[in-house]
Amino acid sequence: MNSTPDAPLSHIPRSLVSAADYAAAAPAHLTEQAWAYFSGGAGDESTLRHNREALDALRLQNRVLSRLEGASTKCTLFGVPYAHPILIAPVAYQRLAHPEGEVAMATGASAVGAGMVISTQASMLLEDVAAATQVPSWFQLYMQPDRDHTRQLLARARQAGCAAIVVTVDAPVNGIRAREHRAGFVLPADVSAVNLVGMQTHASFTAPLGASPLFGSGLLTAAPTWRDLAWLRQQTDLPLLVKGVTAADDARRAIEAGVDGIVVSNHGGRTLDGQPGSASQLPAVAKVAAGQVKILVDGGVQRGTDVLKMLALGADAVLVGRPAVYALAVAGALGVAHVMHILRAELETAMALTGCATLADVGPHVLAQAP
Ligand SMILES: Cc1cc2nc3c(=O)[nH]c(=O)nc-3n(C[C@H](O)[C@H](O)[C@H](O)COP(=O)(O)O)c2cc1C
Repeated sequence: MNSTPDAPLSHIPRSLVSAADYAAAAPAHLTEQAWAYFSGGAGDESTLRHNREALDALRLQNRVLSRLEGASTKCTLFGVPYAHPILIAPVAYQRLAHPEGEVAMATGASAVGAGMVISTQASMLLEDVAAATQVPSWFQLYMQPDRDHTRQLLARARQAGCAAIVVTVDAPVNGIRAREHRAGFVLPADVSAVNLVGMQTHASFTAPLGASPLFGSGLLTAAPTWRDLAWLRQQTDLPLLVKGVTAADDARRAIEAGVDGIVVSNHGGRTLDGQPGSASQLPAVAKVAAGQVKILVDGGVQRGTDVLKMLALGADAVLVGRPAVYALAVAGALGVAHVMHILRAELETAMALTGCATLADVGPHVLAQAP
């Protein structure tokens, strides 16, 4: 279904009423390889599970008779107003999910006022993606081995109107993702990282199929370090967020390096398997940030109640990866608009039932202490 978001939501099958419904419907719209790529996690996929378990373990506390007049989910991030605090996480190669890929994702996001983070490994030109939305996009950066190439990407993102740079630091090597290996996943000839054409990129490590061990292979010589983050800070006056930080000490160091925001993330369980769920690690990072920088989080968010839980734990905004991609696969831009609309509606409902008229009213008190 390649509908546009202008088409009424009644074009969506009635059976799709939640992000989980889109997840269940997605495999029928994807090749077996693409499904393995999007859905899989690293190792035994324990972190993939922990992301959900950490959210499921939290309980909400209802509140009654609160004044909810003028209620709103509005928020401001780096001076830009957003209708709600739910953004689309950077996800590579979205043309594997839909022929119109990232442009359809941006169109759907824009229709419901959702911000979108464009991946360095987008399968469409970042300029075309940024132009498809009324809501300013952010650009996710993988620092390139050649600093000139990194500068070029920053310049293009700025020129395209991106409102922030999100540098991802938790994936100097790919996680070992068994589902992909089992499915024999390789990028089809017509899907590639088109924004990196002409650039020397990090060679990726493909264990267990790779011929040589990682250490000693030279693959890590170009892996970014804290010095590169300090350098990057000097290269852009756009708000800079660092994505993939989960340790309080790393958060402290990133703040010292002058970042404007931290995305607490384990890359959707795709890099280091065995990490706790993001919701478990969020409070310690939020405590370090203590209002100095914005805190975003992702990992396992599937419901507006999950968004509320993350906000209660100290996040200013939340990113969703797979839920948006599955909706893109099932129903293109319209599906993206629909799933983001569902998440927002669920957040509004959960806020109303916990007595929160605005995001400023959300705090640890919306979490129940009872098991
Ligand atoms: C298929 C796939 C590709 C991804 N590609 C990127 C990427 O290019 N850059 C990045 O920073 N994160 C990437 N991520 C991680 C997401 O930005 C995000 O951290 C994660 O998907 C959040 O978890 P969720 O999928 O449970 O919402 C990717 C995730 C998936 C599932």
